[in-house]
Amino acid sequence: MLPTIAREGDVVVMIDQRKLPAQEVYVRCKTAPQVARAIKSMVIRGAPAIGVAAAWGIALGMRRSAATGTQKFAAEFQKTCDLIAATRPTAVNLFWAIERMKQSFGTGAQAGESVDQIKDRLDREAQMIHDEDVASCRAMGAFGADVVPEDARILTHCNAGALATAGYGTALGVIRGAVEKGKRVAVFADETRPFLQGARLTAWELMRDGIDTTIITDNMSASLMAQAKVNFVVVGADRIAANGDTANKIGTYGVAVLAREHNIPFYVAAPLSTIDLRTLEGSHIPIEERNAREVTHVGSSQVAPTGAKVWNPAFDVTPHRFIAGIITERGIFRAPYTESLKQAFETETATPR
Ligand code: MRU
Repeated sequence: MLPTIAREGDVVVMIDQRKLPAQEVYVRCKTAPQVARAIKSMVIRGAPAIGVAAAWGIALGMRRSAATGTQKFAAEFQKTCDLIAATRPTAVNLFWAIERMKQSFGTGAQAGESVDQIKDRLDREAQMIHDEDVASCRAMGAFGADVVPEDARILTHCNAGALATAGYGTALGVIRGAVEKGKRVAVFADETRPFLQGARLTAWELMRDGIDTTIITDNMSASLMAQAKVNFVVVGADRIAANGDTANKIGTYGVAVLAREHNIPFYVAAPLSTIDLRTLEGSHIPIEERNAREVTHVGSSQVAPTGAKVWNPAFDVTPHRFIAGIITERGIFRAPYTESLKQAFETETATPR
């Protein structure tokens, strides 16, 4: 499995996703600020992977703390959490992971644990978040595989693969699950301007697995669908509101509208850590705006006039009415999402609908 992120002794190692596929190089983070920079600069990206990196960043930061008293240690912990929280605003997995680390810290502090014991507990919590993410992806893959057509021609947008998680992937996990179940699968990967996660990362990942992959530029999907060359769409998510509205990579909304027009089922695959019941609808999801340079340049080449105005939102919101189902580690949930998503959290064994 692809080594997206790993803890090795007192460092966190990440494959540098800005450099793929041209170079396979690894970034070694020794401090929490280094992990925060890695998240912000997209060394590591993809909602679940960002959550895992956040947890490791906090554990690493606190492991290096020189504080001996619990009060000073608690103050440093809060500062570290704030630093990590200020990296990227849209993927709710980041805030979910910070919350888990805070809860773990609180449990240790309440039990009167020493600074060293709390450091160990934070390490264990980060490892749990990491391992649970891989397990969730595998479960999503198994559930999602059932709704993939026998002879599937799947369109996906951005990269929701092993690189975007601790391993296996969400949308690409569903694709891998279908392949493991013996379905015939061909994938179309949207290039995904401006950061090119589809062309650079999804194609790289799937080709390594020997899965038939064709790259298209983002403006080609309408034609592809009109020619009946796609019969299933699956994407990941950065934040799913309580009513099912889904924030994902910019361009996802357009793909969903096109899929509806061509009667192609459009599925979202995401772990429960991406579902934010506190955000009632998509219009309340904060959307990150990124640097103009991502639009004016391709790699190091400038493709727009110097000084041109740029709008560069990293995500858009797909209204829930376009979504055929949300594939999670607890099954596939369908409209009305306000009820089904709440139910997903209520029981460990929610029956897939
Ligand atoms: O800006 P990115 O690359 O972090 O955006 C990633 C996406 O939009 C993914 O589709 C989403 O995080 C799901 S990843 C399993």
